Amino acid sequence: MNNDIANIDKVTELLSITEKLNHIKDLDSLLDNILFNARLFTNADAGSIYLKDGENLIFSYTQNETVAKRDKSHNRMIYSSFKVPMNTSSIAGYVGSTGEPLNIDDVYEIDTSLPYQFNKKFDVISDYRTKSVLTIPLRTSRQEIIGVMQIINAKDKDEQVIPFDENDKLFVSFFANNASIAIERAKMTREIILRMIRMAELRDPKETGHHVNRVGTYAIEIYQHYAEKKGFDKNEIKKYKDILRIAAMLHDVGKVAISDTILKKPGKLTDEEYNVMKTHTLSGEQLFDDKVSELDVISSEIAISHHEKWDGTGYPKGLKGEETSLGGRIVAIADVFDALISTRVYKDAWTEEDVLLYMKEQAGKQFDPELIDSFFSILDVINAIRNKYRE
Ligand code: C2E
Ligand code: SIN
Ligand code: SIN
Ligand code: FE
Ligand code: FE
Repeated sequence: MNNDIANIDKVTELLSITEKLNHIKDLDSLLDNILFNARLFTNADAGSIYLKDGENLIFSYTQNETVAKRDKSHNRMIYSSFKVPMNTSSIAGYVGSTGEPLNIDDVYEIDTSLPYQFNKKFDVISDYRTKSVLTIPLRTSRQEIIGVMQIINAKDKDEQVIPFDENDKLFVSFFANNASIAIERAKMTREIILRMIRMAELRDPKETGHHVNRVGTYAIEIYQHYAEKKGFDKNEIKKYKDILRIAAMLHDVGKVAISDTILKKPGKLTDEEYNVMKTHTLSGEQLFDDKVSELDVISSEIAISHHEKWDGTGYPKGLKGEETSLGGRIVAIADVFDALISTRVYKDAWTEEDVLLYMKEQAGKQFDPELIDSFFSILDVINAIRNKYRE
């Protein structure tokens, strides 16, 4: 095919993808989408995104088609807490600190006179061979570098790894610039939500928001496993995940209406106090009453229903089984798991063994048994999340 025509098609496609990126709300969904499309454009097997945090680049998202095929728990790699310093000693650090893209044909053959070397750590733990790597800075419209995108192992028609070419570099750079603006916005959205939660629920300036980060992340991973098992449509899964994480983070925002005396009571609640506490589900629902967006609808559903139980003994309505929304059933599992395994003002942390026994024992009673199956199928992903968002 004529190369110019192929490129015009690609540019048109690029513009429509850029437009779609602006509708994604959640940061991880956005990084997922950016990597997926950058890989599609270059026919690349893998990729990672690092985001700048102070003097470091934090490994923030990753995809690897080859490893994902043979390792069902590959998602745990997303939650690794790997980081590199913002200096020229690593490939990512070099690109992040100089702003120069690097296009390397084989990272195992980097000239030793160069300041940067490839870190083989991920190749070793995942039994993978990284070869061609294209690394591009992520720059905002103010030319500020907020991270780098690495696209790994371009493939030809026969699935052989080949170097990236100048065209790939051009497309990925254009893409990266537009993606940066969306990333900045999504980071801001997450910051605002975390601040709102700190104000509403915790009222404690020392609280890092890790509890809600964990609940949101457990929720999307349980959902993904369940949805794939059920054969839900791929695009539907991506769209729901984008909203679910944020809505799950907001599950307890109705606690804004609960007084500190009850919310922070060190001991057991009286029946009367517990009845007041239960109203946080109803106040939460009211906060999203307008329902102008899909996010409002799901947030409202989760706020009202995350304390319902599968056997109908929960509150506020005593809904049974699938009468409770899917989001509510998922967050019930994520929330209770996190409450039991953590220290709360009113209780000590349980041992992991006791928590897992409880979760299993409550399948079909408190929890949706199929969702509990999914939860147990992804335990190492759950543990990686616990590690990433430790108090
Ligand atoms: P939370 O701390 O986020 O806990 C969420 C849910 O985890 C609880 O919902 C309950 O289903 C489960 N959970 C937490 N601790 C235990 C436990 O020791 N044993 C068992 N079996 N399950 C547990 P629940 O009970 O509807 O409570 C909702 C919220 O009310 C809690 O959110 C917490 O903020 C508050 N709360 C509940 N009990 C007490 C208490 O005795 N003292 C204080 N200060 N707050 C409490
Ligand atoms: C680097 O960019 O050299 C470090 C991260 C990686 O191993 O890809
Ligand atoms: C909460 O009550 O949900 C906050 C306590 C915690 O983050 O462990
Ligand atoms: Fe709650
Ligand atoms: Fe909670």
